Amino acid sequence: MPITILIGAQWGDEGKGRVVDWLASSADIVARYAGGDNAGHTVALNESVYKLHLVPSGILHSHVVSVMGNGMVINPVNLVTEIMSLRKLGLDITPERLVISSRAHIITPAHIALDKAAETALGDSKIGTTLRGIGPAYLDKTGRAGIRTGDMLLDVEEFAERLIAAVETANETLARQGMESLDPRSAVESYLDAAAVLKPFIKDTSVYLHAALRAGKQVVCEGAQGTLLDIDHGSYPFVTSSSPTAGGALTGLGVGPLFVEKVLGVAKAFSTRVGGGPMPTELNGQIAQQLRGSGANFWDEFGTTTGRPRRCGWLDVVMLRYAVSVNGFSEMMLTKMDILSGLSELKLAVAYEIDGRRYEYPPVTNELLERAKPIYETLPGWQEDISNCHAFSQLPAAAQNYIERVASLCDVPINSVSVGPERDQLVMRHTA
Ligand code: GDP
Ligand code: IMO
Ligand code: MG
Repeated sequence: MPITILIGAQWGDEGKGRVVDWLASSADIVARYAGGDNAGHTVALNESVYKLHLVPSGILHSHVVSVMGNGMVINPVNLVTEIMSLRKLGLDITPERLVISSRAHIITPAHIALDKAAETALGDSKIGTTLRGIGPAYLDKTGRAGIRTGDMLLDVEEFAERLIAAVETANETLARQGMESLDPRSAVESYLDAAAVLKPFIKDTSVYLHAALRAGKQVVCEGAQGTLLDIDHGSYPFVTSSSPTAGGALTGLGVGPLFVEKVLGVAKAFSTRVGGGPMPTELNGQIAQQLRGSGANFWDEFGTTTGRPRRCGWLDVVMLRYAVSVNGFSEMMLTKMDILSGLSELKLAVAYEIDGRRYEYPPVTNELLERAKPIYETLPGWQEDISNCHAFSQLPAAAQNYIERVASLCDVPINSVSVGPERDQLVMRHTA
């Protein structure tokens, strides 16, 4: 059975891009199924660092076909910019290598303006969105008022009219909120140019994937965001507007569940979150700074898309356990283990205490979650640099112990961890 679904187990930025890049070496197709250019997936390869927002992370492998599924929301102008910059870096991006669903939804200039307006109106209670128009685009999708990628195949005037109508409707809302309105004609011009570039890439990707799966091709479904940002399962309303979880892969690509072989959860070895919302294990002192890094390295904890510093804290096993239950992970992988080197002790939040009661899973309301006191288990740290390790047996005993404890608390095997951002900085349980 040829599908592996890869999912962020936390609040995004778990290192999904680098793990997809690894899985892609033995895959035929890598398919993104949710979100848009709110995502920022980093792949480090030799001296180059690729930051992908819309194009799937399999693109660095010349044998892989990249698919952008119907569950995505796509800003065509930003997609063309990304394709052009990848081409400049020497990547061959043709309609044979990149296939875009005709059923994905388009992020219009109106959506971006409305995202900004909504965040402004929320003031101190803002979500902290990436301001890429994601929420308003999904709102139009579910409200049955969206414009789809397939509409770019229409006569250019008709596509322009739809975009202009969307901008005019948004202008009414913007005016009500005292925000500057958009000039419909100039707002859509760049969209018409982008549509002309993207036309040859657009296909029915569900039909394409079904044929590939029937032919035995290996497909990696690349999750964006993370389980705790899921519209249904995250800490609502501090979430994104799509379904980054396992079920989302099936609806976001239009593939059947019987093809799924593995569901791989990717978790960072500590917790990070960018944007608002509860984060029970958040730290503010020196340890947080050590986890975040100074910003001097590309892998330090500053947003790939927005550059915002990420909130950092101890690994939250309560949240991970929940992610296991929402997605049914068959396996988990821990990333950024190398960042924990040098800490004298490490803490795992194994449960929460709220008003004298113990919680093994996160409570549903943010009011309770804000008051959750993590119950920590303390483990010994290790001082060695582990970034050159390739086998479990080469890791210090304390690092092995940390991995085993997380696996046991989550009741899911962990057979691989990453110890650096480069393609080969991976530690496998079964390699010598
Ligand atoms: P994604 O959104 O899940 O793909 O993750 P991001 O790319 O936004 O953030 C993860 C960051 O950590 C990137 O800069 C990666 O290059 C980096 N990274 C991934 N795995 C490791 C690792 O094992 N060690 C270190 N030091 N950096 C890593
Ligand atoms: P990757 O794929 C981390 C967060 C935003 C905000 C919330 C809603 O790189 O892991 P949105 O713009 O989606 O409406 O913002 O979701 N968010 C992410 N955080 N990584 C991401 O993607 C994210 N995509 C959205 O910071 O809190
Ligand atoms: Mg990211």
